[in-house]
Amino acid sequence: MPSRAEVAYFGAGPAPLPTPVIEASARAFVNFEDTGLSLAEISHRSPTANKILADAKQALTTLYDIPDDYDIFFMQAGGTGEFSAACQNLVGCWIEQRRRKAVADLGEGKDDEVLARVKKEIENELKVDYLVTGSWSLKASQEATRLLGAKYVNVALDARKSDGNNKFGKIPAETDWKLTPKGSALTYMCDNETVDGVEFPSFPKSLEENDRIVVADMSSNFMSKKLDVSKYGVIFGGAQKNLGITGITVVIIRKSLLGLVPPPTFLHQLSDVLPTSGALPPIMFSFSTIAANNSLYNTLPVFNLYVATLVLQSLVTKFKTVSGQEEVADQKAKLIYDTLDSYPDLYHVVPDKNVRSRMNICVRIIAGKSEGKVTPDDAKEKTFLAGAEKRNLLGLKGHRSVGGIRISNYNAVPVENVQKLVEWLNEFAKSG
Ligand SMILES: Cc1ncc(COP(=O)(O)O)c(C=O)c1O
Repeated sequence: MPSRAEVAYFGAGPAPLPTPVIEASARAFVNFEDTGLSLAEISHRSPTANKILADAKQALTTLYDIPDDYDIFFMQAGGTGEFSAACQNLVGCWIEQRRRKAVADLGEGKDDEVLARVKKEIENELKVDYLVTGSWSLKASQEATRLLGAKYVNVALDARKSDGNNKFGKIPAETDWKLTPKGSALTYMCDNETVDGVEFPSFPKSLEENDRIVVADMSSNFMSKKLDVSKYGVIFGGAQKNLGITGITVVIIRKSLLGLVPPPTFLHQLSDVLPTSGALPPIMFSFSTIAANNSLYNTLPVFNLYVATLVLQSLVTKFKTVSGQEEVADQKAKLIYDTLDSYPDLYHVVPDKNVRSRMNICVRIIAGKSEGKVTPDDAKEKTFLAGAEKRNLLGLKGHRSVGGIRISNYNAVPVENVQKLVEWLNEFAKSG
């Protein structure tokens, strides 16, 4: 049986954690700071839990330099929960802004007129924009359609359609995107597509216009690069890649988006133009409720939060800000991509060069290329994976929907493990 030190794990999520974090978490699970209790047994309303929460927020603020007009909270239901929550909360904000404006213009007590005006505005103007660059943003857009109805969802970009091959792997020029011209209730992007290996190389220029409220799913590249947080309305990420273990989702939100909650009775009356599900989240998904209760509206999984806090604090200790981690991530990704690129007749990196993910490196082993089209060699991929497994290089199989090889280069993957993998990539290529 291999020891932890002998295994190099490249799984896409859940992902490796730093060994000292695993060890400290294990101690806390058995006996938290000599209290005689497991951290999992301690109340989420205790001073201990509050300190862990405060420490997590402090470390996040330091690492990302989060401005004062942003709030941070933790939710459950993973990244997928946020597909629903972001849509419902921000459509709710949009409606509440319109409702308040109608009340201000028409005066108090004009409920029927207010309702009629808001209904008309919803029918004529409400849109949510989605940039679909891979499997996860596709799922998020499908959830928006399920909640709101197709009429209100504008897929401003479907990257599969840009060159007719119906596959993800590119981000077409912004001039080809069809964003709602006058702005929308939200503009959604998945900053790093875990399944398809596509990452936005920078913040899109066109999202800086029209007061767009940008929602970014950073589940799989959280804490791996510098961010200008002020450009985003909402940033979210499931913890189980770069942040910790599954069970909590971090949300960073512009404070002005909180508190804009339409009265449920008003939403009920809109049902002939918009499904109530479109803007009325379950209470557990209400951003304003969770923020107002400092993430403690219900029982927060404090142990899971503790693991994330340890990860964040170790990054602060090591790098002070996220820039140091970004450098390391870039170096490791470069090592892998340079190796793959040096055998172009064997390894084919799936996404275009300018949108290659630094976190999830998707590659096919190929039998050949002709006129830009590649023929994957399934048998060789199997041999490669079997050889990798023999060397304790694990978690390299591509997602079941796309096949091939996927090398996940998350923050806790040590450079030595990347080097071991690079050795195997070289050896395999040279073995003929
Ligand atoms: C980018 C991205 N978004 C969302 C999800 C869904 O996360 P969860 O399984 O926590 O709901 C994943 C899962 O891998 C992901 O990689």
